[in-house]
Order: sequence, then C-alpha cells, then structure tokens
Amino acid sequence: MTTDIDLYDPDVYQRAMPYDWFSHLREHDPVHWQEVPGQPGYWALTRHEDVVHVSRHPELFSSYRGTSMLPEQDEEGLARNRMIMLNQDPPEHTRHRRLVNRGFTPRAIGHLEKHITEICDGLIDEVAARGEADFVTDIAAQLPLYVICELLGVPPEDRCKIFAWSNALVGFDDPEYAQERMSSMGALYAYAGEQAAKRRRDPRDDLITTLLEPDADGEELGPGEFEMFVLMLAVAGNETTRNAASGGMLALIEHPDQWARLVNDEVPAGTAAEEIVRWVSPIIQFRRTAQADTEIRGQRIAEGEKVVVYYPAANRDPRVFTGPGAFDLGRDPNPHVGFGGGGPHFCLGAHLARMELAVLFRALAARMPDIRPAGEVRRLRSNFINGIKEMPVRFTAA
Ligand code: HEM
Repeated sequence: MTTDIDLYDPDVYQRAMPYDWFSHLREHDPVHWQEVPGQPGYWALTRHEDVVHVSRHPELFSSYRGTSMLPEQDEEGLARNRMIMLNQDPPEHTRHRRLVNRGFTPRAIGHLEKHITEICDGLIDEVAARGEADFVTDIAAQLPLYVICELLGVPPEDRCKIFAWSNALVGFDDPEYAQERMSSMGALYAYAGEQAAKRRRDPRDDLITTLLEPDADGEELGPGEFEMFVLMLAVAGNETTRNAASGGMLALIEHPDQWARLVNDEVPAGTAAEEIVRWVSPIIQFRRTAQADTEIRGQRIAEGEKVVVYYPAANRDPRVFTGPGAFDLGRDPNPHVGFGGGGPHFCLGAHLARMELAVLFRALAARMPDIRPAGEVRRLRSNFINGIKEMPVRFTAA
C-alpha cells in the first residue's frame, strides 16, 4: 500500500481527502519520504504530536525558506515572500506579529459580531426567494470577503473591486491566471496604500487605523508592510473560511443527526465551529525547512530538507481524538490543529474565523432548516486547500 501513496498529486484531493493513506502513514510510516517530480522531495508528517512539535520549534523548522511546498523559489521570489509574516522567523516575525495582533484580539473581534450577523442575514435574504443557490459562490465565498472589507473599513462602493482582486489572487494552480494574479496584487497593494494615506489624515475606529498607529513601545509597521499585510489577509482569510463554511455545510448535509442538533439549538455554535474546522481542515498542509540536522521519531532529517505537516491527518489522530472519524458538533475538548499546531504562526484570524462560522451556521440553522443537496458537489484540484468549487442546494427559507 505504501507504494501507491502520493500525497503530492493534486488530482488525489480533487477526488477526496486521502484519509485511508493518512491513517496508514500515521500508524506505519509517520515520517514518510514523499518524492516530487523534478524537485527535491519532502518529509510528510501525519501524527498530531509531530505536527505540534514542528509548529512550535521555528528555530529547528524554519519558515524563512518558504512555507509553500512548491515551487522551489529563486532568491528573488523568496525575498518577496518574506515580506509577509507567514514566511518569517522570530525575532523578525515576533515584531511584525505583535503589531498586527492588535487588530485581532477577542476584544477587537467581539465588536464585529453584530456586523457579521447582519452580513449573514443579508446573504440569506439575497437567495431566500429563489429557494435554491450555489452554497459556495452565493454564501460561503461572500462572507469572508464582506468581513475583510468591513474590517478594513472599505466603503461599500469599493467592495466589488476588492472582490475581483481577491478572487484573482487566490486563483487556483492555473497558469492562465498568473498574469491576472500579478496585476491584481499590484492593484490591491496600491489600494491599501491609498486607504492607509486616507486614514493617516483622518483616523477612524477601524482596523486600518489601529494597525497604522505606533504601539505602546513606539514601534510601527514600516513602508510597504501594511500593504503586504492587506494582501496576506485577502488570501489567508478568504479561501480558508470559505471552505470551512462549504465543507462544514456538506458535512452537516451528510450527517442529518448533527444538523438536527444545530437546528434544535442543542450545541453551542462556537463548539460546533471548532468541530467543523477539525473535520474539514481547510488547509491541508504547510511546509518548513530543517535549520540543522535533526531527528523525528528516529528518522534523521538533514539540514535544508523540507518537512511538511498534514493538518487533516493530525486532526484524525486516534491518539488525541476519541472516535476521530465521528463528526460530533459537541466535541469538547477539541485540540485540533486546523488553525495550526500552536507556535508563532498560529492562525492570526482564528477568533474571527470561529465567530464567522458560528454566526453563519446559527443563521443557516434558524432560516434554512430544510437545506438539502440539489446537484453534484465539485471539488477543487489542490494539494493545499481542501476546497469545494460548487455545491448546489435547495431550501425553504424562513
Ligand atoms: C477556518 C478558517 C481558517 C483556517 C482553517 C486557517 C488556518 C490557518 C493555518 C493552518 C495557519 C498556519 C499556522 C501555522 O503555520 O502554524 C494560518 C495562519 C494565518 N492565518 Fe488563518 N485560517 C483561517 C482563517 C483566517 C482568517 C479569517 C484570517 C484573517 C482575516 C487569517 C489570517 C491568517 C494569518 C495572517 C496567518 C499567518 C500568521 C503568522 O504567520 O503569524 N486566517 N491560518
């Protein structure tokens, strides 16, 4: 069986998440060597404990040489990537993260709950009369984009521009979109710069203003850092939340007993949101690079070798979760690694994403209790995002 395993092949994920491979590897080959055509291979980690270990030891497993499994970047590409904190190591990362954290504390995010509720109600209103929708494009993809616009204080008349640029940015592995991706990146970067200039002249009660202010120690984001951060938000906050919402809805359609618990208000929406993130694991993997010769479970890892952590595999590890293959909205405690394995890069938007999902599913359960499939579900071809492209649904909206 080990010989058929190919965790790299994006076609595999278009068919389905390879849980049987993950469980085989977790038991028999937890530090698995994965070949990549025409490139150096990598070590694939599938146990929860190992994913946590790598995530929490940036001095051994660095993000500086890239966090994407591929392509292998030249120095110029690496330098560009390093402008976003995802690809930085402490202490550079620590400073950057401290500055942007201010906008994402539970308190800062708490202020948004009312707006997020209005956004979710608005999205349901839009499709209510039709009685059918594509869950992905009509609901799941809209929510995180609206929320990021709200967060950044983007005026409503500019929303559609942000929509178009962000969609181009997260465009799939398709070379056809490469050109469009570069020009959208430039446009969003320039827009972020203009918004920043406006807020410097006219400070307001929004995330941009907070992020542009110096912190208590007088530190502030340097030139270009704010713009790069906005680019990262547009990518990091969108596809992740979108696919947590779509994958969560699909899981609920497939598990009517769990949907009934939500509709009958038998589980806290926050607890349900955590289980949805564990179950879906919207990000499949992130990469690190060994900074020195080291070992995991007796397997020698040489300096410079790539190590890739598989979140959906860790999130089904029976050493950590009882009945890992059961979708249980009431699961508590739920030490999943869907937002990362802890350590410095743990998802900055985790509080926000949990709130978006909790509010959305509460609204759906209240207003579309009979939601059901209305056609074929189409999955995304990607070894990075566990994504759904299309999911037609039908409902009687209240
Ligand atoms: C369900 C939705 C989401 C999932 C599953 C998710 C998952 C993740 C994961 C796995 C990481 C990497 C953690 C690590 O390397 O240890 C990450 C990092 C990050 N996420 Fe999220 N994320 C979600 C939503 C969001 C949202 C809504 C935002 C912001 C609006 C966001 C912003 C970020 C940023 C900025 C980072 C990089 C943090 C750093 O390098 O310090 N994410 N996320």
